[in-house]
Amino acid sequence: MMKAIVRRRWGRARDVVELVDIPEPEPADDEVLVRVRASSINRSDYYSLGGAAVLMRPMIGGFLRPKGERIGGDFAGVAEAVGKDVTDIQAGDEVFGSRTGALAQYVSAKNAVVRKPANLSFEEAAAIPGAALTALEAVRDYGDLKPGQRVLVNGASGGVGIYAVQLAKALGAAHVTAVCSTRNVEQARSLGADRVIDYTRDDYTRGDGRYDLLIDVAGNRSWRANRRVLDPNGKRVLVGMPKGNRLIGPLGRLARFMVVRQFSKERQSFFVCKPNRPNLAFLRELIEAGKVRPVVDRVYPLSEAADALEAMGEGHVQGKLVVRIA
Ligand SMILES: NC(=O)c1ccc[n+]([C@@H]2O[C@H](COP(=O)([O-])OP(=O)(O)OC[C@H]3O[C@@H](n4cnc5c(N)ncnc54)[C@H](OP(=O)(O)O)[C@@H]3O)[C@@H](O)[C@H]2O)c1
Repeated sequence: MMKAIVRRRWGRARDVVELVDIPEPEPADDEVLVRVRASSINRSDYYSLGGAAVLMRPMIGGFLRPKGERIGGDFAGVAEAVGKDVTDIQAGDEVFGSRTGALAQYVSAKNAVVRKPANLSFEEAAAIPGAALTALEAVRDYGDLKPGQRVLVNGASGGVGIYAVQLAKALGAAHVTAVCSTRNVEQARSLGADRVIDYTRDDYTRGDGRYDLLIDVAGNRSWRANRRVLDPNGKRVLVGMPKGNRLIGPLGRLARFMVVRQFSKERQSFFVCKPNRPNLAFLRELIEAGKVRPVVDRVYPLSEAADALEAMGEGHVQGKLVVRIA
């Protein structure tokens, strides 16, 4: 048996999250059984509780109650056993990756597990996967960043934003502007931002900057406002959006974006991150080369995972929240 965080009904973290004993998973032939040492919290983990938006529940799985009980996504730990078809990882290797159910002592990982960056602790490595993979897809793939371009990251201080700033610089942006609140200005500079706009004082959509690529993690401004600062050939990649109300959550804003995009001349995209081994290995190289690093806001014990999920829901994490798993 192992300890795991589960939710067996929909609701707020403090009401529905439980620490229970459940059987350890059995790895399939193409899976790696990982003894998890640390996990980190993403906004998707918060939404997976179903308390933030009733209409998101069927999308997560189950309407009256959740279909699967395990939650969590990011992990770093040690490979305990490997299926016979796995050739690149051996038992005993330190690994990191992404798989539903990572808030537990064991997870059986499949498509997104690789060796952990040698220069990171388990807690630091657990702060990478979901957020950094999302930032990578946004900047490199959907943003199609070209060396020499000017980039703006709106929402530069949370999980995705800290990696978007660093990846834009690492992949050749000439100039990166980070938008965040006052207490995160120094953090954004230390991650390599050339310019930082404090959104509590200045409105980036009213400034004189013009950008080739706008990575919109906060997603809180209208298409019309963003258009003012986007170069005519520029591109906006929408990554996230405000939480919205308890009925539809962020879905209303996403639906509006999809409709407006049909009539817009600007290049705008939205995507859902697909964790995979090549992208994790790409990140590992950048991390080992010192070009990307995690920022850990706070580390919680597994027994306080509900507090970490509640904190995530407040929307002002500085970097990442990590859960240590003994
Ligand atoms: N498309 C995908 O596949 C994908 C994957 C992962 C995440 N997401 C989405 O991306 C979004 C961010 O995720 P995350 O993990 O980075 O969340 P997070 O860690 O909670 O970070 C959110 C950040 O937004 C900033 N923020 C809040 N209000 C803002 C404003 N008015 N202007 C600018 N920034 C503001 C906050 O910074 P301050 O404290 O400085 O206000 C906070 O650091 C969420 O909506 C999430 O659902 C999408």
